Amino acid sequence: MSTDISTKFVVEKAKTSRFSEVDFETLVFGQVFTDHMFECDYIDGEWQTPIIRPYQPIMVAPSLKVFHYGQAVFEGMKAYKDDDGQVWMFRPDQNQVRINKSSKRLAIPEFPKELFFEALNRLLVLDEEWVRKGDGNVLYIRPFVIATEPAIMAATSTQYKFMIIMSPVKSYFRGDVNVVIAEEYSRAANGGVGAAKAAGNYAGQFYPTNLAKAEGYQQVIWTDDTTHEYLEEAGTMNAFFRINDTLITAPVSDRILDGVTRKSVIDIAKREGIPVEVRRIKVAEIVEASKNGSLKEIFGAGTAVVISPVKSFSHAGVHYPINQPKDTYTSLFKKLITDIQYNRAEDTFGWRYKVSAANY
Ligand code: COI
Repeated sequence: MSTDISTKFVVEKAKTSRFSEVDFETLVFGQVFTDHMFECDYIDGEWQTPIIRPYQPIMVAPSLKVFHYGQAVFEGMKAYKDDDGQVWMFRPDQNQVRINKSSKRLAIPEFPKELFFEALNRLLVLDEEWVRKGDGNVLYIRPFVIATEPAIMAATSTQYKFMIIMSPVKSYFRGDVNVVIAEEYSRAANGGVGAAKAAGNYAGQFYPTNLAKAEGYQQVIWTDDTTHEYLEEAGTMNAFFRINDTLITAPVSDRILDGVTRKSVIDIAKREGIPVEVRRIKVAEIVEASKNGSLKEIFGAGTAVVISPVKSFSHAGVHYPINQPKDTYTSLFKKLITDIQYNRAEDTFGWRYKVSAANY
């Protein structure tokens, strides 16, 4: 389906592909990019001609507002190839709605839905060989918007650049994930931007996460900013806790991102008859459950991390290992969700999206 603006879509193909230069076995998350990228500027109150061009550096003025005030939002999405060579995406409608929600909160103009999907389909058709078959091979897609007005007055930018870049990846974490439960620093506050995928939300976590890393923990599980008594989300993922056979996760709020993988896990749990509670979770409850042996698992859920088991947590200077049972929810949800993503299982929810040149 074409819009007026998309009839002007410009596609400048790369003369040669870098595909054969890539060692796909040693990929570090997000360091290699495909042959093409998408770019669309917002000037004079309108999105301009959308362009796909070879992946390359962009030349910009040092005065761009994004550098000074961090007016920027992004999304994380993935494309998967099934055994027959068909490329799929997972619930891209959710990311489309969320990037515009994030944009609204950061006073960035919304990006047209038709153009978002046309850009994704065109890019994925063009760079189709970069989506590789086989479990664990996946193409991470990063749409983002930055404020490009070259002016340093602290006010909403009048110009923006919407881009999509794509990176072939394997797993996000290279080893075990151990977490620290936050007691001093906070990720988000009521009325703030915690529910938006704002670039600064991530920058603000780097320092406390580095402190955790120095102690041997890879991520921080954030707690509420007022009392630090309630568990919220982790750095790059929503957090799930299994106490006996019940799965528990915090409700989304001003401070917690409405994760696509998170809501998919909840829906799958309900379908599978696994008891799931979406409610506030006290740190004390998890500490107590760890002590009495009822804490069976903690896992993170997110587009980049998929479903990642947490091996231990630390709180108030005490280290709590997690002794997982033989059959974990972590492996069950990872299998159920990736089977849908790679088109290996019936898609009872209608979440798979078929990438095709017929979509533009
Ligand atoms: C994702 O899961 O796609 C995210 O956006 C997290 C990211 C910071 C790696």
